[in-house]
Amino acid sequence: MSDKPASERISPTAYATGQMWVRHGLSHPAFVTPQGERLDRAFGLLTRLTQRLSGVSLDAMMLARHKGIDAVLAQAIDAGQVAQVIEIAAGLSARGWRMRQRYGDRITYIETDLPAMAATKRTLLERAGFLGERHRVLELDALADKGSRSLAAVSRTLDPERGTAIITEGLMNYLDPGTARAVWRRIARVLKQFPNGLYLTDAYFVSDNRNVGMLAFGAILQVFVRGRMHVHFADAGDACAKMAQAGFREAQVYRTQDLDATREIARTKGGDRVCVLAART
Ligand SMILES: C[S@@+](CC[C@H](N)C(=O)[O-])C[C@H]1O[C@@H](n2cnc3c(N)ncnc32)[C@H](O)[C@@H]1O
Repeated sequence: MSDKPASERISPTAYATGQMWVRHGLSHPAFVTPQGERLDRAFGLLTRLTQRLSGVSLDAMMLARHKGIDAVLAQAIDAGQVAQVIEIAAGLSARGWRMRQRYGDRITYIETDLPAMAATKRTLLERAGFLGERHRVLELDALADKGSRSLAAVSRTLDPERGTAIITEGLMNYLDPGTARAVWRRIARVLKQFPNGLYLTDAYFVSDNRNVGMLAFGAILQVFVRGRMHVHFADAGDACAKMAQAGFREAQVYRTQDLDATREIARTKGGDRVCVLAART
């Protein structure tokens, strides 16, 4: 495995997923990059092979996680609990653009990532005319406890009187357990400063992912990022317990089979192997 820091190794995956969201109609042509098109093609070859061998569709899994997080976020916005969002490790995801299209000035959306990816995204979104006071791209290092790139610093740019969501998608499984616990504690600490705090992430359980297809997918990703992946939760109960230990008041696991937005995709093998974890302060 590589000696490079995990963050440097996993950044290219954001180009591949960014293109995947475009391919599935969840994005905008402004998010297309040559690297994304190239990596999506390469990754597609491997994932099609996995699907042929095991029946597990990785596109189904990715779509289920992306649409599942959208659905739970939209529920919270519709219910008036959330009006501000910080997306950590947003990569080239178009969720910020889609949510702003849907909710307009009812929400403020801050997309964040490490400096290089944040600069790329800011350039793409600026060029398309998508950015403004209520839709910004900022640098944030999820591992930073203090300083201008810490979550605490970015959260101070928001209105402390409005309900706030923090999202991580496709990040936590690259982090070792100790690092992941520190990230969750940081998120809970920041969310407690707002009247409503909601944390959303994709979650995987050891109990769901012991089969050949998911193991093969994990192996492919580990080759792709030249590093280890980590499944943090034994099952839903363990996920909720870990959120409580991190400082959240309550947590809930949404299975993709149970959400209207993902019920259909959960019928495809792979779409049923990911959950949305929602933790509240
Ligand atoms: C798999 S991509 C996920 C991108 C996006 N969330 C999606 O689902 O399309 C992982 C992202 O994590 C970012 N990243 C890696 N380490 C990070 C860190 N320490 N803090 C913030 N972002 C990080 C990478 O730059 C990359 O954009």
